[in-house]
Parts: sequence; structure tokens; C-alpha cells
Amino acid sequence: MTNSRILNWKELSFPTEWSEVFGRSCPLDVEIGFGDGRFLFQIALAYPDRNFLGIELAWQFVRKADRKLQEAAIENVRLLQLDAFIALACLFPDDSIDRIYSNFPDPWPKSRHEKRRLFNREFVEILCSKLKIGGKVYIATDNADFRNFVIENFSQFDEFVSAFENGFREGLPQSYPLTKYAEKWLKLNRKLYFLEFELKRKPSKRFVCPIERSKTMPHVFLKGEVDLLKAFSDFQTIEQKADGIVVKLGPIFVRPDGREALVEAHTVDWRLTQRIFIRIKRKSEDTWLVKLDHIGHPVVTKSVKTAVKLIAQAIASKADIEITSDRTGLE
Ligand SMILES: C[S@@+](CC[C@H](N)C(=O)[O-])C[C@H]1O[C@@H](n2cnc3c(N)ncnc32)[C@H](O)[C@@H]1O
Repeated sequence: MTNSRILNWKELSFPTEWSEVFGRSCPLDVEIGFGDGRFLFQIALAYPDRNFLGIELAWQFVRKADRKLQEAAIENVRLLQLDAFIALACLFPDDSIDRIYSNFPDPWPKSRHEKRRLFNREFVEILCSKLKIGGKVYIATDNADFRNFVIENFSQFDEFVSAFENGFREGLPQSYPLTKYAEKWLKLNRKLYFLEFELKRKPSKRFVCPIERSKTMPHVFLKGEVDLLKAFSDFQTIEQKADGIVVKLGPIFVRPDGREALVEAHTVDWRLTQRIFIRIKRKSEDTWLVKLDHIGHPVVTKSVKTAVKLIAQAIASKADIEITSDRTGLE
């Protein structure tokens, strides 16, 4: 039996009841971009009465941190491999997080990459909704431009108050565990900056998770005659962009007998990009099913449902066949 601390985020609800995941109700702290996990390890050991969730994009770090946590039998930590924007916006109920730590987040210095920077305006807006009143955000960085960018964004929300008059202090607090990057920069005598913000009151507006998720697998039934090889012989990529979603369909792989096909598609909902597959299948002489395939364990979102519907419509427009039942859940 595995004792891994890694959670499969696709199996979690939007939002998640974290006390159920941890099996106990106590303060919830989050570390974003935990890297090799040494900070998470130390802080979880120091505070056994708190639950810790580590969020990290890089799979090799998630695996490494998991191994170390298991070896040390640290029980109060769970790990997620996911973009922190999606994790914070979709997996946390409002007013659920006590403390957020982010140590040496990537500064993404080019202005065209501002959207990727943690603690951009949208991210701070998410934090406003997800932190409890009195909840704190701790950020360490060696990059003065990034430091100023973060201070500027927090200052746009009067729900947050900085612990420091000018928005930061130089050097890390004495008891603050050192991360790999902290050690690296200290060895090089780089200046380190520490930021701390507290949420003082509830935000006037709540951040709503921009990813619409549903539980049922979308599918469409069609009735009539169609030879998929002929219908898709001149298939051009179909692309649709609307309401914060993007769908790009193709290529299509048709079985030589023309009775079954698999369509590859790329979908985007807000910051979630997925590569999905849609299966077209003959169910009886004149009945066809177009359905989302389980390959890759897709999360069913608006763009995914749209992809299924677009393929069904493409078939219906090509041959003597019509849609008899649309179970995509779309208008
Ligand atoms: C410069 S490293 C710092 C790692 C560690 N905190 C330390 O101080 O040693 C930044 C880390 O943040 C992770 N990261 C970057 N963007 C992220 C995001 N949007 N969500 C989660 N993790 C992210 C990267 O994969 C990387 O491991």
C-alpha cells in the first residue's frame, strides 16, 4: 500500500474540504513552489498541529519531496503538482487558508511574462478571497524588481496590510527555515528581502473559480448514415475561442473501415490547458456516439464539452445524419 503524500488534483472537488483530506480539522498552511521541499519539511516538523499543503509545478520536485516526507514519517503534509493559480482559485473554499509561504518565486523579469508571475494582481485578488481574516502571506525573494512588483500589487488591495512600513525588510527572520535558493543566494552574498502581508477584512468582491467543471462525461448520439473516412477526408483544424475558453480540434485518426475515429483536441479554460481525445463510434447500423475518451483522465470543463459538441456538429453537417441526443450539458 502506498503512503504517498501526493494528491491527484483531478480527483479533488472544486473546492475541496481540506479537513476531510487530512482527516483532521486544524489550521491550513500552503507553500507555493516548494522546490526540493526542505522548507516544507522543516516547517511541518515545527508545527505538528497544522496541516500543510505544498503546491509545485515540477513533477521531479514533487516526487523528491514526497520521498523525504515519507522517510521522515511526516504526516501533516500533502502535495499537489499543479499551477498555483489553478490550485488557489479552484481547490480552496473562501476563507480557508491561514498562512501562505512562497520562497524565491520565479521573478519572470520580462514584462510580457507578467501573467505568469506569482503575486500579480489577479493572484493577489485570489488570495483576498481564500485567506482567513488574520491570515498571512510570507514571501522571500532576492529580486528587488519582483519585490517592488509584489508590494505594488498588494497595495492595490486595502484588505491587506504589510508588516513593514516600506513593504519589506532586508534579510530573513531568524527562525525562518532556509530553502535551497536562500542558501545559494546567501553564499553569493546576495541581498534577501522578506515580505509579510496580513488580510485584515473580508474582500468586497469574491474571486469565482473561472473553470466550470462538471462530473458527467459529455456525449452526443447521432442517427443516420456516415462514412467517417469520406466525411473527414478534407478535415481542416476547427478552432473556437469564446468566453475565456479555447478549443482546437484535430488531427482525426479514422479506422480504415470508416466505422470509428479518434479526434485529438487541445482545450484551454482560463489557465488550464488539456490535450483530450474524442471518440466517434458506431453503436448500431444507424446510431453513432461521439464521446469524450478517458485517455489522459481529462477534467470535464466547458471547453471539453464544447469540443465534443463541435465534433458532433461537424459530422452532422457532412452527411445524411442528425443529432438525436445532446448530452454535453451545453446550450
Ligand atoms: C526559484 S524556485 C524556488 C524553489 C524553492 N522555493 C526554494 O526557495 O529553493 C521556484 C519554484 O517555483 C515553482 N513554480 C513556478 N511557478 C509556479 C506555479 N505557478 N505554481 C506552482 N509552482 C510554481 C517552480 O517549479 C520552482 O520549483
